[in-house]
Amino acid sequence: MPARLPDGDPAPADGALPAAALAGFGSHRPGRPFGVYVHVPFCATRCGYCDFNTYTAAELGSGAPGRTRAGYVEAVLAELALARRVLTAGGGTPPPVETVFFGGGTPTLLAPEELGRILRAIEETLGLAPGAEVTTEANPESVDPASLAALRAAGFTRVSLGMQSAAPHVLATLDRVHTPGRAAAAAREARAAGFAHVSLDLIYGTPGESGDDWRASLDAALAAEPDHVSAYALIVEPGTRLAAQIARGGLPAPEDDVLADRYEIADATLSAAGLRWYEVSNWAQSAQDACRHNLGYWRGGDWWGIGPGAHSHVGGVRWWNVLHPSAYAARLAAGESPAAGRELLDDGTRRLERIMLELRLADGLPLDVLDDAGRAAARQAAADGLADPAALADAAGPRVRLTLRGRLLADAVVRALAA
Ligand SMILES: C[S@@+](CC[C@H](N)C(=O)[O-])C[C@H]1O[C@@H](n2cnc3c(N)ncnc32)[C@H](O)[C@@H]1O
Ligand code: SF4
Repeated sequence: MPARLPDGDPAPADGALPAAALAGFGSHRPGRPFGVYVHVPFCATRCGYCDFNTYTAAELGSGAPGRTRAGYVEAVLAELALARRVLTAGGGTPPPVETVFFGGGTPTLLAPEELGRILRAIEETLGLAPGAEVTTEANPESVDPASLAALRAAGFTRVSLGMQSAAPHVLATLDRVHTPGRAAAAAREARAAGFAHVSLDLIYGTPGESGDDWRASLDAALAAEPDHVSAYALIVEPGTRLAAQIARGGLPAPEDDVLADRYEIADATLSAAGLRWYEVSNWAQSAQDACRHNLGYWRGGDWWGIGPGAHSHVGGVRWWNVLHPSAYAARLAAGESPAAGRELLDDGTRRLERIMLELRLADGLPLDVLDDAGRAAARQAAADGLADPAALADAAGPRVRLTLRGRLLADAVVRALAA
């Protein structure tokens, strides 16, 4: 969640949603669960490549509402109460929450008791479905066996650890503060604490990373036996320390052909270890190990995003909260919605987003989402080796399913299908 907000229309102070959005929301849609995202905007230090909406203690100062962790938790509880008011305004009952995702920032800078308190409040205000997936992101250095056991006892079912790399010089370039072995150790501790689902995040293409460094990072991640791995190409975000270093010539920019090479190494290594891709940057041991919360985003589901800068989507309305924790807490303390703006998605925007997101899934994009020109482009993509011809000819439901080469060129395929 980058620390920039889109343009949009003003959001109403009471957060109310149009009746049409609420009407479309109540009906349960299989594969598109209702989710809650909780954004925790705190980090111990800022990594030089990251432009997420997160603040260090020095950046926050002290004293103002929402600047302390306790103030943050109170504001989150107030937004949950607002969510209940908004979602029940039409007299209906919202479907129970099937997935919860605490992201950051560094959620595990909050004590397990504080995270557990927020989770209980979600259960009390919106209701949790039986077997709900409850994930927290965690920085390897911010968890230990006792905190992981406390998170498990509080109802968390999944941990996603930011490992990034096993190469000390790559971690140093990324400004990561943990030692190379700490992430894998934390993954093992999470398993020992009873987490069935443990994911590791990796980044490839960091300046100075060699092919062997990347292979060693993948091997180190796999040695910890995660059931899920996310591998992202390093994005040089404008305004970050990394972008400034590259602009000054202090570091080389990541090169496209190197990134493609690293992706192929990742796919081959992870597949050989039994993890299959289910989204371009995500691999899981089995379908049950895929991140249900993220699948909800990618399949156009509904979710309420709680916290500073969090985005939400309900029934075709998307909105986003003010970025700064103080502004966020002040709005809620005044009894107002923290939404900074919103947009009503028209059919064209929804269709384009569907193409962009579902094309990245291994399930593929149903061909009937495309117009005639898009279908012709899909056939061309298959002829060019970018889409799987068998999936396109599937009598049960033709789909555009990217090949490995297609995954490397996913953005170009989206442009061709949506043109
Ligand atoms: C926002 S972080 C939150 C997790 C946690 N704070 C951490 O860093 O370990 C989620 C993931 O986004 C990825 N990420 C953040 N900035 C990125 C960038 N500029 N390029 C690629 N991946 C990035 C990292 O892999 C990170 O683990
Ligand atoms: S710890 Fe995670 S969220 Fe915080 S600055 Fe680093 S990458 Fe960004």
